[in-house]
Amino acid sequence: MIDSFGRPITYLRLSVTELCNLRCRYCMPEEGICKLRHDELLTEDEMIRAVRAAARLGVTKLRITGGEPLTKPNILSICRRACRVPGIVDTGITTNAIRLPEMAVPLREAGIRRVNISLDTLNPEKYAYITRRGNLSEALRGLDAALGAGFEKIKINTVLIGGFNDGEIPSLAALTKQYPIDVRFIELMPMPGGAGFGQECYLPAAKVLEALPEAKPEQEEGVARLYRLPGAQGRIGLISPLSRHFCASCNRIRVTADGKVKPCLHSAEEIPLKGLDDDGMLEQLRRAILNKPCCHQELSALNRSQAARGMNQIGG
Ligand code: GTP
Ligand code: 5AD
Ligand code: SF4
Repeated sequence: MIDSFGRPITYLRLSVTELCNLRCRYCMPEEGICKLRHDELLTEDEMIRAVRAAARLGVTKLRITGGEPLTKPNILSICRRACRVPGIVDTGITTNAIRLPEMAVPLREAGIRRVNISLDTLNPEKYAYITRRGNLSEALRGLDAALGAGFEKIKINTVLIGGFNDGEIPSLAALTKQYPIDVRFIELMPMPGGAGFGQECYLPAAKVLEALPEAKPEQEEGVARLYRLPGAQGRIGLISPLSRHFCASCNRIRVTADGKVKPCLHSAEEIPLKGLDDDGMLEQLRRAILNKPCCHQELSALNRSQAARGMNQIGG
């Protein structure tokens, strides 16, 4: 379906849980979040119904997100059923990789084609700090498991945080030489719920190019501008929602774990799906697409996102 600004909406991001086994400082409060009541969440059947309705409206690409989607007990069943929905041809999951050692092969067998892994540092102490409880070696074992499981594409997502990981741009980028994976650097978005990183922490993605003068530009893909280091197997991506937002080509809608359609990541508008049948969901998704705003306001540390929830509740 085409939205009111001429953009084809072909991409659904489905958050299957708000819960996470980590507590990344920019994403979640330390104490975690109030668990939703079971009856407030979409059931597995409702999730599949939402994917089916989206596919009927022209969605072809599905990304499963969280929280951390691999903490959802029935994640494999959700993936297996969602990946089989007619019309859905591109299927991905975004994960912190902690559970990939045991889940990578079953996810691939369930029909997931691509995996994006959140990894902000290669320093074990810094990893424990930024995730408040994570163990770097577990995440790296997860990456290894993904590499061995036959996914069509693996990408690393690194949130750029000034004074924290800007010195690691070359070592993170070097992963693209070692492995056939993309490493994408993402500008920190000022979301509700993320613990206060000050103005000095917002780094423009252009800093990545300053740190990698040998990187050569390639074509854009989705939200990322791409580059390649000489001889590298994978590419470097810049995702710059602050310094150069990509609203004009936005092709996505989001569904939260409690069944709210978000026409835009940074707007407060949410349209409920919970309890609806196939046709009801179709109508609500259609409404969401027609209500998708042209763009979000400029974001900065002082001008925060208008989203009514934190990133763990939206799924990025
Ligand atoms: P593929 O293109 O399928 O590989 O994935 P993706 O980049 O769409 O998804 P991923 O979950 O890896 O998200 C990467 C980063 O882009 C995260 O920080 C998201 O929050 C951010 N992002 C994804 N979609 C949008 C969007 O519509 N607007 C903004 N501002 N950021 C987005
Ligand atoms: N700004 C930018 N990216 C973020 N993510 C989570 N919170 C933020 C934020 N405030 C990223 C995660 C994950 C992806 C889905 O979103 O690192 O890779
Ligand atoms: Fe969990 Fe991802 Fe948020 Fe980190 S960024 S706390 S891994 S949902």
